[in-house]
Amino acid sequence: MPIHFANIEACVFDAYGTLFDVHSAVARYESRIGARADAVSNLWRLKQLQYTWLRSLMGKHVPFWQLTGDALDYALDAHNISDQSLRDDLMSAYMELDAYPEVRDTLSRLKDAGLKTAILSNGSPEMLESGAASAGIADLLDENLSVEEVGIYKPDPRVYQLAVDRLGVAKERISFQSSNAWDAVGAATFGFRVAWINRFGQGRERLTDDPDVELKTLDELLPIVGA
Ligand code: LAC
Repeated sequence: MPIHFANIEACVFDAYGTLFDVHSAVARYESRIGARADAVSNLWRLKQLQYTWLRSLMGKHVPFWQLTGDALDYALDAHNISDQSLRDDLMSAYMELDAYPEVRDTLSRLKDAGLKTAILSNGSPEMLESGAASAGIADLLDENLSVEEVGIYKPDPRVYQLAVDRLGVAKERISFQSSNAWDAVGAATFGFRVAWINRFGQGRERLTDDPDVELKTLDELLPIVGA
């Protein structure tokens, strides 16, 4: 029988990799980077995530914008690229990433079904506002919730609690979507209903609680939450 999440009142989305294509920044400047473009983009993302976990463990939080720049510097340096204007262009592109193709229609259908919608992301508030606006989805989101309100990164449970507090919806009535396997696990461990949008064919994490369902794209969520 197909899976159904009962009594869902809000759908909450991870931003980077789930709504916004994190590799679209490097893709725009591929011709200036050359054959190393994919490797640079992958290392940029990997370091960005590692720095969120490491800084949280050390109690040394900085906003995601600064941390994303630090991760980019690492990735460019690792590939012997020293080009300040390229660095500036990549950071600007990160403020205006492409959304995945099915994102706008999916959010629109969720709103039509009367569900609340929100981003819950590591992203700094200005990154989320800019990303939602440039992707043309700002009107379909009730809230852009940033970890900056709690000063620590995912998967600290205080981040997931922020959605409960700010939306005024109990955690078991929130469906959380992330393409990041570890974020899906963190959200399931917190107590959300969780759809892991496994866009990148990642392996299943061996951690704590598994997500409730694994999907390929966001539109597959609609029947699960009754939209
Ligand atoms: C975010 C990262 C985890 O948007 O993708 O929070």
